[in-house]
Amino acid sequence: MNTNYDVIMIGAGAAGLHCAWQAAARGLRVLLLDHAKQAGKKILISGGGRCNFTNLYASPENYLSENPHFCKSALSRYTQWDFIALVEKHGIAYHEKTLGQLFCDDSAKAIVRMLLDECAAYGARVQLRTEITKVVWQDQRYTVSTSQGEYSAPQLVVACGGLSMPKLGATPLGYQLAEQFGHTVLPVRAGLVPFTLHERDKEAYSELSGLALDVTAQNDRASFKEAMLFTHRGLSGPAMLQISSYWLPGETFTVDLLPQLDSLAELQRLRAERPKLGLRSVLQQWFPKRFAQTFAEQQQWPDKNLADCSNALLESVATKLHAWPVKPNGTEGYRTAEVTLGGVDTDQLSSKTMASKHQSGLYFIGEVVDVTGWLGGYNFQWAWASAHACAEAL
Ligand code: FDA
Repeated sequence: MNTNYDVIMIGAGAAGLHCAWQAAARGLRVLLLDHAKQAGKKILISGGGRCNFTNLYASPENYLSENPHFCKSALSRYTQWDFIALVEKHGIAYHEKTLGQLFCDDSAKAIVRMLLDECAAYGARVQLRTEITKVVWQDQRYTVSTSQGEYSAPQLVVACGGLSMPKLGATPLGYQLAEQFGHTVLPVRAGLVPFTLHERDKEAYSELSGLALDVTAQNDRASFKEAMLFTHRGLSGPAMLQISSYWLPGETFTVDLLPQLDSLAELQRLRAERPKLGLRSVLQQWFPKRFAQTFAEQQQWPDKNLADCSNALLESVATKLHAWPVKPNGTEGYRTAEVTLGGVDTDQLSSKTMASKHQSGLYFIGEVVDVTGWLGGYNFQWAWASAHACAEAL
């Protein structure tokens, strides 16, 4: 068995697979290792099995990082259009679902197949079921000890991803390797993750489980106009997942439950024109009945005709409808989070190549780096772009 390679990559996920074939296409002998039985497991389950593989509008503003400028170079040199061209070259049918989000028409399997086919075409070796036990840097080479033997190469690409969804094979190996080689790992936390509510709110709203509303969720850092979903444990849906990446424990954010309507003006108009209309009946016109009833009870709004509602009451109703304060108990954590925020500090990496600034031949790509995208195909676009930047530099 050939154990001499030009580059060893750890992690056959989105970033590792995309980097492996591009490096091999440049003539390098590439070994891609993964402990999983299957390559690209997250790709396979992503986007409900259809993989939201990029976003038509991906740009640096859609990413969170201690250094918001870091992602710019890689994203500009490998854009959504480059990945779309690859998808089209492989004849994979796709469509835009909403907000620029591109999904496969059939199955996410096509994306993994495409990446594995490219690896095979250029001779990048993808070796699964391989536990990494030790990585040592000696005599200008990385020696990787594994359950399948020892491999060595002058270059090492760490593409181990983050901590989200341990049942899909996520481990802290990428962060451990970063620290081993003197890199700072910024604090990590679950992102794009459903919220859990405090016991009282959970009891009040769990009966609404399954109900979705179009809302705007916001705090002083971000604002997202998307759907919110009530669950047995709390709140989910795109609007909640998005704001979760901008939320810290103990904080409150607000939800505009009627972003399309000036509810105060509408309540005042109805009071003048149809004074006998009940306040709760109005709410039932604006929301699904189950929600209108539960919400009105929780806010202790009286069951009065509009004629008997004071200006102060209508104002307080409108304020609550447009800025419902939500103080979550926490999140569902890495078990269900789509991404991990934080990670390998970009200060010690080159934004052009993803190379370590102080350790020769060491690279970090994909989610292990402190760059996290919004929901909607942005995280895969970062995986593709950072992989490309690295592959060009190897
Ligand atoms: P990724 O996690 O893909 O790969 C890391 C690889 O490293 C894995 O194959 C793992 O087995 C391997 N590994 C880890 N530890 C190891 C160890 N100790 N030894 C050996 N190998 C090890 N994004 C998006 O843009 N659109 C979408 O539709 C979705 N949907 C989605 C759904 C769900 C349920 C999740 C959990 C996530 C998403 N995402 C997403 C996010 C997206 O999946 C994620 O950002 C990318 O997969 C990150 O790519 P990486 O290659 O960096 O890590």
